Amino acid sequence: MTQFAIDLGNNDKLVLREMWTVPALHALIEKNLDRLRQWEHWAKGPQTEEGLAAFTTHQMHQWVDGQALPAAIVSQGHVVGSIGARIDSYIGVADLGYWIDADAEGRGLVTRAARTLIDHLHQDRGIRRIEIRTATENVRSRAVAERLGFTHEGTLTAAHIAGDRVHDTALYGLIP
Ligand SMILES: CC(C)(COP(=O)(O)OP(=O)(O)OC[C@H]1O[C@@H](n2cnc3c(N)ncnc32)[C@H](O)[C@@H]1OP(=O)(O)O)[C@@H](O)C(=O)NCCC(=O)NCCS
Repeated sequence: MTQFAIDLGNNDKLVLREMWTVPALHALIEKNLDRLRQWEHWAKGPQTEEGLAAFTTHQMHQWVDGQALPAAIVSQGHVVGSIGARIDSYIGVADLGYWIDADAEGRGLVTRAARTLIDHLHQDRGIRRIEIRTATENVRSRAVAERLGFTHEGTLTAAHIAGDRVHDTALYGLIP
């Protein structure tokens, strides 16, 4: 049973990516591997449940240290995606990353989850600036940032890699 959950309304919620989320997230990653590999460098190699468990342990350590907030998106009782923040609490800046199952895409769930996470980071954790970095060609990810009111602050040349492809990075910033 999780010790951390944020209600998103409509029977959707964010839960901490504890070990119990590993089998469900691993199954989702396998199912969505081709589309994740387009944009997520971590998806390049073979995906194993053991590897995801090791990464989850690392993220839990970072959570305890206040350096990360790794969450799974749960919709109608099923794990459907992931959203997380890496946190630099010394300077009060966090950056967001997210992905969702193809079957749950296009419903506004990621935007809703991100908005709720941003409120939590700002109001409860004192984070004063949030960033989203995404490949300039990643139209759906950029749309999430823009829907949330982020400003496109600039483009970082060749700063993003996904698989064997190097992309420019669109840097988005928000001062909540
Ligand atoms: C990027 C990604 C997470 C975006 O997911 P998404 O489902 O498009 O994002 P949202 O949850 O905000 O949904 C937006 C869509 O829901 C629609 N929508 C419906 N109700 C909505 C609501 N209440 N609020 C906002 N949008 C709503 C929007 O119109 C939009 O539709 P459309 O773009 O299909 O026309 C997803 O495409 C993905 O997992 N991609 C692969 C991994 C990836 O690229 N990750 C990001 C790396 S930086």
